[in-house]
Amino acid sequence: MKHQNKSALRRAIFASGLAACALAAPARPWSDPGRSPDARARTLVRQLTDAEKFQLIHSLFGEPDAAHKWSMPAGAIGSAGYVPGIPRLGIPAQQQSDAGLGVANPINVRPGDVATALPSGLATAASWDPKIAFAGGAMIGGEAWHKGFNVLLAGGVDLQRDPRNGRNFEYAGEDPLLAGTLVGETVRGIQSQHVLSTVKHYALNDQETARTTIDVRIGERAMRESDLLAFELAIARGRPGSVMCSYNKVNGDWACENDFLLNQVLKKDWRYPGFVMSDWGATHSAAKAANAGLDQESAAEVFDKEVYFDAPLKQALAHGEVSHARLDDMVTRILRSMFAVGLFDHPPQKGPVDVNANLAVAQHALEAGAVLLRNERTLLPLASDLHSIAVIGAHADKGVLAGGGSSMVIPRGGNAVTGLEPATWPGPVTYDPSSPLKAIRAAAGHARVEFASGDDPAAAAALARQAQVAVVFVQQWAAESFDAADLTLPDKQDALVAAVAKANPRTVVVLETNSPVAMPWLDRVGAVLEAWYPGNAGGQAIANLLFGRVNPSGRLPITWPRDLSQLPRPQLPGAVAAPGTPPPATADYAIEGADVGYRWFQRQPLQPLFPFGFGLSYTSFAQGAPQVAVHGGLPRVSVEVRNTGSRAGADVVQIYAQLPGNPIRRLAGFAKVTLAPGQTRTVEVPLEPRLLSEFDMAKRRWIIRGGSYAIYAGRSATDLSAAVRVQLPAQTL
Ligand code: BGC
Repeated sequence: MKHQNKSALRRAIFASGLAACALAAPARPWSDPGRSPDARARTLVRQLTDAEKFQLIHSLFGEPDAAHKWSMPAGAIGSAGYVPGIPRLGIPAQQQSDAGLGVANPINVRPGDVATALPSGLATAASWDPKIAFAGGAMIGGEAWHKGFNVLLAGGVDLQRDPRNGRNFEYAGEDPLLAGTLVGETVRGIQSQHVLSTVKHYALNDQETARTTIDVRIGERAMRESDLLAFELAIARGRPGSVMCSYNKVNGDWACENDFLLNQVLKKDWRYPGFVMSDWGATHSAAKAANAGLDQESAAEVFDKEVYFDAPLKQALAHGEVSHARLDDMVTRILRSMFAVGLFDHPPQKGPVDVNANLAVAQHALEAGAVLLRNERTLLPLASDLHSIAVIGAHADKGVLAGGGSSMVIPRGGNAVTGLEPATWPGPVTYDPSSPLKAIRAAAGHARVEFASGDDPAAAAALARQAQVAVVFVQQWAAESFDAADLTLPDKQDALVAAVAKANPRTVVVLETNSPVAMPWLDRVGAVLEAWYPGNAGGQAIANLLFGRVNPSGRLPITWPRDLSQLPRPQLPGAVAAPGTPPPATADYAIEGADVGYRWFQRQPLQPLFPFGFGLSYTSFAQGAPQVAVHGGLPRVSVEVRNTGSRAGADVVQIYAQLPGNPIRRLAGFAKVTLAPGQTRTVEVPLEPRLLSEFDMAKRRWIIRGGSYAIYAGRSATDLSAAVRVQLPAQTL
């Protein structure tokens, strides 16, 4: 609103200036914020020389790299990417930083410069709350803007097809609707701060093993209805200025020179007006990539074999292999996004941020997204009058684990546990300095709270034996560039939990993991809380959840398998811990196709350990049968939810739909609702029409087949109401 008023005022001044001075066209008509981003970009591109156009379609690595004899470019702040500005035309530089979970600071290139680290993307997804995602994005965007960044490499929305994927913590789970909605909101949050965001990695970069060589095989309809749908929804909701194409090949072509993905789907079918940037090292050609839809080559000097979007592309232009119109299109798309997000009109201002407010955003994200998986005999919440608690493991005295790779944030307060391996990329292994032990001590009042590192299971068991309750923290470090070999917790932590649980059955396990892990001791412990990578205020959030100051309301955004045999691909050949196996050339994603996660489990059928959508609360809820009415050809669904317990809490109403002729249920809508004890509310749950559709290969459109649809309300993918049948008319979206 504020900006609208400002721009109206500027328009008025601009117009009256024109009239009063009877000037011809102003010197820089593209500076007028009253004109559309398209018009501004089209006007500006006409002013550029070819050399200037080439400057904009290729970013420089924004940090020093000794191995490539690369020094930090003049003007760069120090980050993943830098595109110098063009001062004669008022075009700002692009300062590009990684920022999936907070503003990253690679190899600490800006010494002492820390940022607020959010919990895992999976924690935000597990909140099932678009407001949490937006707040996280706005927080990151605001911090970036105050550090001088105007482009963020955020918005990871690759679907989780494998719990071993080392980057699951950066993404938003296995379901296209949930992931697309929440990541779209994160992007919207970032861009609300006039900082341009990507969505990435387009597309099907669903494993790290052999990520720069693997050729993912999957049919068009299956990908349109799964991974591409997550991108389609995230882009529609978030309107990211850029899409980052991925390292892998899709059906034979590199993603960054894949005409089908970039030109046909993204730019033509989805009418995407922004620009495509390559992942770092993902460009393999000049003419082919440019003609297939790549608009900006990233950090080529350091990561690519050649700087394709320099001499080779100039040559291709001279030989007529690439048209001048296409070069202009590349530049126009870049400028258009910069105008649309506000990079010209609201340049970053370096300055302080409200640190406490930002830490609160990180804390709320985990409080909303931690998932209570088990709670026998109401072991949790812990009573405030306990007199002894044993806290064990995972450096819980110092902080909470973070994931590694380009998304890693140097957290506020610095790394709480230094010196762990790997010390270099994708490390250093980092712990956010929010100590669960300290927060538990503070919450426990007069209780004696003692800590054992867990290195010695016998000592930990002895401590647990003489305490009323034991809280064991277990961890699994994961990072970009490799996948886990299996689901086993490393460093003999299973033996630690077993020993502690044997000594004291009132054992609570807090997981700090990338994604699902095996829990062979599950039946022997009282409670399990999945805290993902908990983030910069994770310790406080965990204590609040354990003591019931906050009622857990997270629901799994992924299916928790019992073991690897339940996965579509039980083997992951070439994964780091299985050396000797040559990396595979292809990955067959056609096995499950569009039936990712819970849909695969239904199709097989298989019983997971915990289903998608599952999560416990300290209160109880009753959901009524869904009320379904058809308006304008689409179903409207409402569900009565009642808090039947004695604490305030939040429930998530999940609506699953079954299409005519397809027995597999898919999530079609969801809504989170907070209720006081005894309170009842009727919740209207908006359904996404694309989830009631199939992708019609002949029409190349989403179509709703006329026929009978089954609608279920549920509290997870397997805990469902009876089906309510509705008749929908045939339609094309
Ligand atoms: C990652 C991207 C990241 C880029 C720049 C790549 O290795 O895959 O997610 O944005 O590096 O740091």
